[in-house]
Amino acid sequence: MQKFIITGGNRLNGEIELQGSKNSALPIMAAAFLAKGKCTLESCPNLTDVYSAARILNSLGSKCSITGNRAEIDSTVVSGSKISETLMREMRSSIMFMGAILGRMGECTFSVPGGCELGPRPIDMHLAALSKMGAEITDINGEITCRMPKGRGRGAKISLSFPSVGATENIILCAVLAEGETVINNAAREPEICDMCHFLRRCGARIKGDGESHIVVEGVESLHGCEYRIMPDRIAGATYLAMTAAAGGAMILKNACIAEMEPFISVLEQTGCFICAADNRIYLRRGGRLKAIRDRIRTMPHPGFPTDAQAVLMAALITADGTSVFEENIFDCRYRHTDALIKMGADIQVMGKAAVIRGVKRLHGADVEATDLRGGAAMAVAAVGAEGITRISCISHIDRGYENFEDVITSLGGKIRRE
Ligand code: UD1
Repeated sequence: MQKFIITGGNRLNGEIELQGSKNSALPIMAAAFLAKGKCTLESCPNLTDVYSAARILNSLGSKCSITGNRAEIDSTVVSGSKISETLMREMRSSIMFMGAILGRMGECTFSVPGGCELGPRPIDMHLAALSKMGAEITDINGEITCRMPKGRGRGAKISLSFPSVGATENIILCAVLAEGETVINNAAREPEICDMCHFLRRCGARIKGDGESHIVVEGVESLHGCEYRIMPDRIAGATYLAMTAAAGGAMILKNACIAEMEPFISVLEQTGCFICAADNRIYLRRGGRLKAIRDRIRTMPHPGFPTDAQAVLMAALITADGTSVFEENIFDCRYRHTDALIKMGADIQVMGKAAVIRGVKRLHGADVEATDLRGGAAMAVAAVGAEGITRISCISHIDRGYENFEDVITSLGGKIRRE
């Protein structure tokens, strides 16, 4: 089991190039299963979750190879419609493949993804929508099979009870090759959904309204390959900005998606950091001590404050002057990182959905265990700004979402090594 050893207390300075988005790359890789042709994806991040997606594609008969940040996926000839239990367990996002496999093959078998570190992750909305599109669904001892009796799904009007990112993506993936028109009401508006739709349109799909809560997909007979560049990762960007805010110093984030990061940046600015964003670059400088955020920080579906950035911002606010309050509205178990932060000297009180952070003057290093992807990253944010040495174990969680994490931090002048 590898660890990150971080010696805190150094200000960060320098420029970094933002990696491609994990949450875009995964659904786009699933979408490439729909195209009868070769897709080339640029800016594909080197992450364990991306390799898991490549393994799923290859297990289904697609040819997927990754060289550097380029993924080549050829799904001209595909053979499988079942995702093995082992691959399902490797990555919860493998549920993303359900809509694509069903759309291409008319049938799909997979095991129920269990709960994960964020608590139970039900897929009821995904299944209800696919059933509206004509899928017959059977569940035998946790092995779920969805089958389109006519081989092809049919368009449907679907209203989601909550704007689920994964359900919206799965519906679109199933709808692009379905017969007729599919309408999604109360669709999720996350930028990564738009990125997947841009990719699908390049392949010949007809989709309108992505980025809004009313999406219309008109099914087509087939899709072809294309070349596509994956959007930058707004959550990795938020993490490095939060880290510089926590440690002090100045940084430039290059290849940044400014508009998509706005819900995060507008909150971070309230800490007193100087932030200037233009031409795909974000400059951040922290002078004195951070200020606490006065208004409750409520995680909401996009364009609200992103749940994925809650933990990393919290890590920066631990040493801010005053009290900040978070309200986590998306996931039930998203405060699991707080015990580790408390061990490092933070004053955090969790009460149901709320977490109250009373700013302390300084943090100290400690031995902590990453609990989940963003929670683990939050521990690193706190550690870079803390006095002394922090050892973070279970870093496989962090490797799921951050490309060359230690190299990026080192290039900013942080002291971190993998052991
Ligand atoms: C995606 C992101 C994840 C992010 C989340 C919210 C990827 C790979 N992951 O996850 O990083 O934190 O969006 O922005 O893109 N729910 C149900 N039933 C369903 C589906 C969802 O009850 O059928 C609930 C979930 O338990 C959760 C909430 O809806 O409480 C939001 O989930 P959802 O938007 O679906 O998140 P994911 O797509 O899993």
